[in-house]
Amino acid sequence: MRRKYCFLTRRKFLERSGALAALFPVARIAAANGLQEVRELDPNTLAKYVEPLPLPAMMQSSERRPDPADAGKTLPLYRVRIEELRQKTHRDLPPTRVWGFNGSCPGPMFETRSGEGLLVEWENRLPEKHFLPVDHTLCGAEADKPEVRCVIHLHGGRTPPDSDGYPESWVVPGKSILCHYPNRQEATMLFYHDHTMGINRLNIYAGLQGLFAIRDEREDALNLPQGKYEVPILLYDRFLRADGQMEYPVSGDPKSPWVPEVYSNVMLANGKLFPYMEVEPRRYRFRLMNGSNARFFRLSFGDLWEMHQIGSDQGLLAAPITAKRMLLAPAERADILFDFSPYAGKNTILRTDGFDIMQFRVAASGAKDTSVLPALLRPIERIPESRAVRTRRLTLDEAMDKVQQSMGMKLNNTPWHAPVTENPAIDTTEIWELVNLTEDTHPIHLHLVRFQLLDRRPFDVFDYMDKTELRYTGAAIPASPEERGWKDTVRCERGHVTRIIVPFVGYTGRYVWHCHILEHEDNEMMRPFEVVRA
Ligand code: C2O
Ligand code: CU
Ligand code: CU
Repeated sequence: MRRKYCFLTRRKFLERSGALAALFPVARIAAANGLQEVRELDPNTLAKYVEPLPLPAMMQSSERRPDPADAGKTLPLYRVRIEELRQKTHRDLPPTRVWGFNGSCPGPMFETRSGEGLLVEWENRLPEKHFLPVDHTLCGAEADKPEVRCVIHLHGGRTPPDSDGYPESWVVPGKSILCHYPNRQEATMLFYHDHTMGINRLNIYAGLQGLFAIRDEREDALNLPQGKYEVPILLYDRFLRADGQMEYPVSGDPKSPWVPEVYSNVMLANGKLFPYMEVEPRRYRFRLMNGSNARFFRLSFGDLWEMHQIGSDQGLLAAPITAKRMLLAPAERADILFDFSPYAGKNTILRTDGFDIMQFRVAASGAKDTSVLPALLRPIERIPESRAVRTRRLTLDEAMDKVQQSMGMKLNNTPWHAPVTENPAIDTTEIWELVNLTEDTHPIHLHLVRFQLLDRRPFDVFDYMDKTELRYTGAAIPASPEERGWKDTVRCERGHVTRIIVPFVGYTGRYVWHCHILEHEDNEMMRPFEVVRA
């Protein structure tokens, strides 16, 4: 039987309607929380641009400890408390209950250099009860598991397996985990976030994420804007009630509150709603990161003012790219240079689709700008396909119930607990063909590695579903310029086979790959993989 596809995909419909309210009536949210009434915040009733953009605090290390990889050396140790906080999201809202790190949400930023390892003691000091709706029918979140658990993963990090935040390696309140991050990789902006089996969408939504910058000499030599002219901005949407508290939507089935995606009513920048930033009429470097559960950002400045993208997930591109809009799927990062000098004395808004995120106020004059927009950033060798020792064909699948409601997604139609099927040998290169049989775009992420996007090619989904036959319906679309750098998360579009080429280097051991739409990931759109000795 053929399934009818409507013109707009379900994801687009959900996003455009912007209307969580329409799909997840407020009454349902209220019922699930045992509240009388929940009123949705109308962000348009709030004063805009009355508070400055907060910048992340820097993580501070307290002491040094022996390097687990080299007994003769020591490494800085960072002690990080994972805790519940109350934090002002907007001047005119009461403080919002969030989860964060060392007193802030999003967490303070780590800054280190390539090859300079560090240790983090992640200490779970969260309360015993979750304030968001846990679904005990999901794998890993069964009723016999403690409700509050956490484990932190460094996204994009080349990290040994026992420090990578395996989803089942969670700890309960009162316990901590010591992780070793060797950081043997090139300069880029990584981020750390919760990865707990079955509840990571809730823990991250509550606030458990933060940025992690790695620097290196190549980046230093480029003379990019730095210091106060380099601005990290972690963006995410959240559903806020009129009383300023966060709400996580529920399905209407109290036994199984999981929903397939969350699109919310406010966009936060570094945890603030409608902040502003005063800038000088000069070049700035913005390190943008999409920390939403499911929302894709289509970012633009002013009336589509031109920006230059210089980097993506895994660091610098080969050369800058000029863009007026920037598409960022959950977990994707963009490194951007924006020149405010033509706009002295003007204001501009950073937007996504119809939403205003924040305002930049450009001063009439400022100090001399000595930074440059380099013509070339770093050489990036395109990996020849011939280097791959193996090609794996892997499907992205969605199970629907009788009324075409999503019951969850899978990778290769395989549940989380099935034995490992992807077992690349260390120091070999593989091509992964991701065959998307669903109606959504999925940002697929592999731990440990960086990879390159080869191409996306349209194919006949129905043929594949009927006969497991891959019949292409058009030519392969090569990676666009901004996707030609090193990536760790790739958008797999509906109706396409997305091919990536992946050198498996670093460490042997057990890791995971998954969709970074957190609702999908939590409902088993995640699988282990194991890097084995050759
Ligand atoms: Cu952002 Cu499994 O990672
Ligand atoms: Cu990751
Ligand atoms: Cu997905």
